Amino acid sequence: MNGLRLIGTGRALPAKIYDNDAMTAFVDTSDEWITSRTGIRQRYFSGEGETTSGLAIEAAKKALDNAGIAPEQIDCVLVATSSGETVMPSMACIVHHALGLRADIPAMDVGAACAGFLYAADMARALLLAHGGHYALVIGAEQMSKLLDMSDRNTCVLFGDGAGACVFALEPDAEYESVFGVRGDMAIVAGGPRREQPMAMEGQAVFRFAVTAIPQSVNALLERSGKTLEEVDWVVCHQANQRIIDASVRRLGVPAEKFYKNLDRYANTSAASIPLALDEMRESGKLTSGMRVIMVGFGAGLTWAGMMIRA
Ligand code: ACO
Repeated sequence: MNGLRLIGTGRALPAKIYDNDAMTAFVDTSDEWITSRTGIRQRYFSGEGETTSGLAIEAAKKALDNAGIAPEQIDCVLVATSSGETVMPSMACIVHHALGLRADIPAMDVGAACAGFLYAADMARALLLAHGGHYALVIGAEQMSKLLDMSDRNTCVLFGDGAGACVFALEPDAEYESVFGVRGDMAIVAGGPRREQPMAMEGQAVFRFAVTAIPQSVNALLERSGKTLEEVDWVVCHQANQRIIDASVRRLGVPAEKFYKNLDRYANTSAASIPLALDEMRESGKLTSGMRVIMVGFGAGLTWAGMMIRA
C-alpha cells in the first residue's frame, strides 16, 4: 500500500535543564515522589528568546540533513503543537519561511495534543496521496512550560519542552497502518492558550485511559496488518509516564525491551515526544532501516492514535 517510510529525523531542546530537585523551587515536591510516580528525572524548560517555532526549525533542519533531502524537495509541512507562540501565523508557516520551502505546498498546524504527531503524519500522507508529491516534513514541537501553572504540583513536574522532526517518503510498496480515536466528552486534560487558563488534569483518570488506549491501539494495528508483536521491532509510545508504559507492557504480555523509553530525560513533551524518541533511536543505531515500528500517542481531548510503519 502507499505507506510512509521514515527517512530522516532531528531534535531540538531548550538550553536549560531542570532536574527534579530544581522543581522544589516552584512547588512542594521531591525527587523521590516524581521518580517513583512517573520515572521522570529531568525536563527542559525554555528561557528568554527560545520559541516553539525556533525549536521546530532547528529539529527540521537536522531532519532534512539526516534524510539527505533538500528543502525544495519537501511536498508538505505539518507541525503538531498545542503551544505555538502565535495562533496566526501557524508554526508550519514560520518553519516554511525559515527553511525556504516551495510556495506550492500545504503548510499547517495540527492540534491533537499528545497524539498530534501521529495525526499530523497521517494527514501528511493523505495530502501527498491527494495532491501528489513524495516527501513530507512532520514536526512535533512544544513549549509546555508556557501552558503550566508553576505553582500546581499536580502538573508542573510532569511536562517539558522540546521538538522532534521526521522526513517521511511516500512509497507505493511501504507498509502502513493507522488507527485513531477521540472521546470529546472526556475533557479531563484542559487549558491554554492564555496564562490565566493553565493546564489542569485529572491524573488518575488519564492514567486509566492511557493504559487502555495503548494496548487497544497496538492490538488494532496488529489485527489490521496481520502481523504479530514478535514481528514488530519497536513500540514507541507517547512518553508521559513510565508506569503507563510498564502497565501496557504487562497487559500486552510482551518483553519490556521492545518499548522505547526516554521520558526520564525529557518528561512529557506532548506532541514532540514520539519524534524525539525516533531521533534518539536512529542516532544511537537502535532504529535502523527496514525495522517495523508501532507508535502510539494519547492525550488531551481525549485523543489517541496508533501507526505502524517501516523505517
Ligand atoms: N509532589 C509531591 N506530591 C504530589 C505531587 C508532586 N509533584 N503531585 C501530587 N502530589 C500528591 C497529591 O496532592 C496527593 O496528595 P494527598 O494524598 O495528600 O491528596 C498524592 O500526591 C497522591 O496523588 P495522586 O494523584 O493519587 O498520585 P498518583 O499516584 O495517581 O500519581 C500522576 C499522579 C503521576 C499524575 C499519575 O496519576 C499519572 O501519571 N497520571 C497520568 C497523567 C499523564 O500521563 N498525563 C499525560 C497525558 S495527557 C497529556 O499528555 C497532555
